[in-house]
Amino acid sequence: MQTHEIRERFTNHFVNAGHTAVPSAPLVLDDPNLLFVNAGMVPFKPYFLGQQTPPFPSGTATSIQKCVRTLDIDEVGITTRHNTFFQMAGNFSFGQYFKEGAITHAWTLLTDSLEDGGFGLDPELLWVTVYENDDEAADIWHEKIGVPRERIQRLGMADNYWSMGVPGPCGPCSEIYYDRGPAYGKEGGPIADDNRYMEIWNLVFMENERGEGTGKDNFEILGDLPKKNIDTGLGVERVACILQGVDNVYETDLLRPVIDAAEKAAGATYEDPAADRADDIRFRVIADHSRTAMMLILDGVSPSNEGRGYILRRLLRRIVRSARLLGATGPTMEGFITTIMDTMEPSFPEIARNRQRIVHTAVAEEKTFLKTLASGTTLFESAATELKAQGAGTVPGARAFELHDTYGFPIDLTLEMAHEAGLEVDMDGFNRAMAEQKARAKADNRAKKHGHTDLSVYREFVDHHPTEFFGYEELSGQARVLGLVAGGKLVTEAHAGDEVEVILDATPMYAESGGQLGDRGRLSASGGTSLDVTDVQKVGKKVWLHKARVAQGALSVGDTVTAAVDPAWRHGARQAHSATHLIHAALRQILGPDAVQAGSMNRPGYLRFDYTFSDHLSAEKLHEIEMVTNAAVDDDLEVNTIETTLDNALDMGAMALFGENYGDVVRVVEIGGPFSRELCGGTHVSHSSQIGPVSVISESSVGSGARRIEAYSGLDAFKFMSKETALVGGVAAELKAPTSEVPERIRALSARLKEAEKRVSELKRAQLAQQTAGLIEKAETVGATRFLHADLGAGVGGGELRTAATTARDKFGSDPAVIFFTARDPEAGKMPFLIAATKAAVDNGLRAGDLVKVVSEYVAGRGGGKPDMAQGSGSHLAGLDRAVAALRDHIAGS
Ligand code: SER
Repeated sequence: MQTHEIRERFTNHFVNAGHTAVPSAPLVLDDPNLLFVNAGMVPFKPYFLGQQTPPFPSGTATSIQKCVRTLDIDEVGITTRHNTFFQMAGNFSFGQYFKEGAITHAWTLLTDSLEDGGFGLDPELLWVTVYENDDEAADIWHEKIGVPRERIQRLGMADNYWSMGVPGPCGPCSEIYYDRGPAYGKEGGPIADDNRYMEIWNLVFMENERGEGTGKDNFEILGDLPKKNIDTGLGVERVACILQGVDNVYETDLLRPVIDAAEKAAGATYEDPAADRADDIRFRVIADHSRTAMMLILDGVSPSNEGRGYILRRLLRRIVRSARLLGATGPTMEGFITTIMDTMEPSFPEIARNRQRIVHTAVAEEKTFLKTLASGTTLFESAATELKAQGAGTVPGARAFELHDTYGFPIDLTLEMAHEAGLEVDMDGFNRAMAEQKARAKADNRAKKHGHTDLSVYREFVDHHPTEFFGYEELSGQARVLGLVAGGKLVTEAHAGDEVEVILDATPMYAESGGQLGDRGRLSASGGTSLDVTDVQKVGKKVWLHKARVAQGALSVGDTVTAAVDPAWRHGARQAHSATHLIHAALRQILGPDAVQAGSMNRPGYLRFDYTFSDHLSAEKLHEIEMVTNAAVDDDLEVNTIETTLDNALDMGAMALFGENYGDVVRVVEIGGPFSRELCGGTHVSHSSQIGPVSVISESSVGSGARRIEAYSGLDAFKFMSKETALVGGVAAELKAPTSEVPERIRALSARLKEAEKRVSELKRAQLAQQTAGLIEKAETVGATRFLHADLGAGVGGGELRTAATTARDKFGSDPAVIFFTARDPEAGKMPFLIAATKAAVDNGLRAGDLVKVVSEYVAGRGGGKPDMAQGSGSHLAGLDRAVAALRDHIAGS
């Protein structure tokens, strides 16, 4: 049975029993506690907690949720039961049926015959576990369902008590296992062997609320939820294994084709008895990661160096790396991603309209990484040469970390190359550096979010008092103070000089999101109280925190205030945000759909727009983008906002903003109809001409594969251009030329300068030649050889040294002679030098190239050249006398 059919049977079973079928939420939700959706119940959290009323007529729902768990990326492929991406099919009851209903529904679907719409599993092969003291569940399994007592086992909190790992709903659970037979392990049920007895379904009796804590069993249970609920999760891929009669999740119809593609790309065989076992793991890594990466890109994640983007980057790079280790030499990504899109598309039809974007994002990352691999290899090689020259046998941890952190060169590759070069790697040092960096990043994130980690102080407001935002229509209005937070604690009042976060019931102030910074403004209350709002942030997507300083008077919870946005700020913010949309549209018009947005930031007068693209923008292209943008301003395009469903918005071709939930009404902002359509909650101008001029100031790289355009908008754009014009005017005045002739004049000036420099250098050489002719007298006689050392002083370059030495050498004619000229530059701490030998000296075995090595030893230098002339440079200037003496000895011994 194909996976797609398993999904359909599941949904039909529960829809027939009155459940509302709910589409999967995207993998990324706006929840700071959650990297990716990792269970089917995540989108339903507010209903379990009683914060929202479930919008399902029967109070029950069913879904097949996309899930990603990436805690142990390094473990992928070692076991064959776990994937980083999986589909969790679930049924949910919000205060409706409880244990008996959940158990009965699950049992009938698993054991009903195929003709009756079930999965037709043999009831004799099913085992169950229940939470240690849950007699009620055990009795239902035995008495109502007929599972013999010996196939009902009890497990403790770590196994049979479920929570999301963070504060939220939780409860005891009961799991259903399928006995795969003696070939898979020993008898004795799931408590004896969880490989042979494969877990397929988890029924959670969601009745409690969990507090802070760590691990699966070390947290406080805060109390009962308002109602008793059901949350179940069936592993679609695991059921596919059973129904397709295959050994493991990599053999199902979804993943096996990727392994086949990898065999072709690498010219290697999966499960080849003659090959290294590690190769099989690599095949599985490719299959697993291709799917997870594809699904993450589908849901809007782009590769980057932090958070979700970093996980995606790691997945993609591990694919490239595994393919290389299997023997692939060229690019392979496109084949893997296309294959996995083909197998997944029947269940996820939205893949169809995103194919090009997905392939492009994955392939761009592959390209960047292949480049990194090439440059990293060079970097590693030079590090290895240096270490060996110093006689070191170990690559220091800090060096390995630098390769990893700065150049994106994976540690396993460093280890492998070190091994080939006969070096060790200080892994303790590397791990220490990694741990330090993680700690730094964590502290950073904490600081970024809300200044402190403890969000529980806002909880009451998030759960019960979401802020009403009326700032699209009005810039000012009355509001009531619901809460005040100072120093991370709730307070009841704030006085002049205090820094405080103000929570209101309603506000016209925009809170930072979608790249647009929060509004600035003022809160004022009776009696002359006024607060300057310096930033506005959102918590839990719902509550606006007005970060403010009390300028005058005092404010108490319960007070009524007038909240007013600074109109100049908002005017600039609108201009910058609408300009960002125009630049995005222009960029895609010029570069095509391969340029994918990766992030943006805008504030009054300024914007930056990040996007992924494999190449830099030429000056012409950048200019075109600026032109298209300003032409759109000039066209005075109408700006409309439309509220609609996510599906509708995507059908309209709106550029997706990710993190929207299935039920959400989304806001589409269009400028000039189809010219620019984006999902966006920001504030915008009503006609494009209100944006004013847009002036692009730079285009640069921000990490591998990501690029950034920066621009000014409105009056700031004008000020920028005006400053530039004044600057060019100033230059023109200096040159005494009209501005249009400035470039030509500068070109002519620099040509003249070059010419003059050439002339000076020629003169210097002639002068040197004269000087050197006189130096010959000073040559000493060492054995049969004439030896001349002279320091020509700072500022003498390589070319001049050569001219001088050639002149001197000619003067020695057919005598054996060695000339050693230095150009000591104590200020720069360096000393270029040159050694020349006459033909007679070379014939006696005095080769200039060898002599440079003799000198180098004493002056910490390096260099080389031909037998008759060689050059070098040293940095240990104090070693010069010893170098001369050594040279003398060397000549004497020849
Ligand atoms: N939430 C439970 C799990 O993830 C059941 O859906 O296992």
